[in-house]
Amino acid sequence: MLAAACNSDGNSAPAETAAAPAAAAELPGQALFVQNCAVCHGPDGKLGLNGAHDLTKSNLNATGRVYMVTQGLGKMPSFKDKLSPEQIQQVVDYSLTLK
Ligand code: HEC
Repeated sequence: MLAAACNSDGNSAPAETAAAPAAAAELPGQALFVQNCAVCHGPDGKLGLNGAHDLTKSNLNATGRVYMVTQGLGKMPSFKDKLSPEQIQQVVDYSLTLK
């Protein structure tokens, strides 16, 4: 039972309201994508170098993509030593905007 330790009175908790980041003018994952993924997938996800799949046609959901990027598969490298879980989430979020 670790949760709820510092949640005594909701009315006096100012931190709560900062939680909604303005949606996606430029996702932080975009820079990560350009640096780490564009070499094979292209800046728009369509390049398909070395058998990389066209990400605009992928129907993997976020969970599947996080797994893919974390673990790698076949010629797709694993990024778990290069990117933090948070960065992986960001780059995946960005990849999901490629259409
Ligand atoms: C060295 C080249 C390479 C790099 C760099 C690379 N990928 Fe891939 N990617 C691949 C290949 C090859 C596949 C196909 C793997 C397979 O199915 O065997 C793939 C598949 C994928 C898929 C699954 C698509 C589908 O529906 O089958 C996703 C999602 C993906 N990559 C995301 C990323 C992201 C995000 C990054 C950057 C963090 C990245 N990739 C970096 C080569 C690469």
